[in-house]
Amino acid sequence: MFTAAEVDVRTIWKLLEEAMKIAEGKFMKPKNEIFVANLFYENSTRTKTSFDIAERRLGLTVIPFDVQNSSASKGESLYDTAKTLKSLGLDLLVIRHSQDAYYRELSRIGIPIINAGDGKGHHPSQCMLDLLTIYQEFGNFQDLKVGIVGDVKHSRVANSDAEALRKLGAKVYFSGPPKWFDMGTIINGTFVSFEELVREVDVLILLRIQHERHDTQMQMSTDVYHRKYGLTLELEKHMKREAIIMHPAPINRGVEIADELVESSKSRIFKQMENGVYVRMAILKHVLEKNGHLFEQILG
Ligand code: CP
Repeated sequence: MFTAAEVDVRTIWKLLEEAMKIAEGKFMKPKNEIFVANLFYENSTRTKTSFDIAERRLGLTVIPFDVQNSSASKGESLYDTAKTLKSLGLDLLVIRHSQDAYYRELSRIGIPIINAGDGKGHHPSQCMLDLLTIYQEFGNFQDLKVGIVGDVKHSRVANSDAEALRKLGAKVYFSGPPKWFDMGTIINGTFVSFEELVREVDVLILLRIQHERHDTQMQMSTDVYHRKYGLTLELEKHMKREAIIMHPAPINRGVEIADELVESSKSRIFKQMENGVYVRMAILKHVLEKNGHLFEQILG
């Protein structure tokens, strides 16, 4: 299982090292045929596509699975779907689902699961690609100041990133509308004003407003949000010279970040996406090896 950010520090470092070797051209193939499927009960562009590419680059056999056209539409539960796919011979499932910690009830099936996002719980593979992007830039996490801004309360990325960064020795700060901040999250960081945070941090992680997880409609217009909590062209001028901008995407240009800043010199947003393939290859290999599958390195 690779489910929540409760992955230990040793595993994080192992995955980062493997992902960096993969980024440099390390190439591996499994010794036996391995069947995997990607079950996305919530929409995705980056995570689903990069898992697909990662699996193919690792030489895995990807069995197409389209939730909308599956028997989920006839009421089949996630548990029965996962159990069915195991019975059919699948070796590993990558799953995204709107239910927090959906994977708990699946653990007794006995098929390895990689969590591609659970409700507002965790997004561990996004966390790993964020860590890789930060490490490539700064070469360390100790005492690095990382700001996470926006809809913290509904963000599985904020949860996973803050927890892992704190374990690695970084200092985590949060900002955004106070009503989108759950005091429970504060154990992994400190809540500060947005302007103060922008001036102080080495890494600024902006979050999308997760309307799909809100109980009520947002009271603030997107223009007001941008002026109060978005990274405007004016505010960006106050960032440290070496600081970087990150965002898990999808991005709402002109809301959480000014359009012009998305592809600016400080932005690592598209680098994050590229890194997603490397870390997902590392995660897939790690989970499969833990479940008895063997890989051999192919020398170029
Ligand atoms: N960052 C992320 O999870 O993007 P997708 O929803 O497109 O997968």
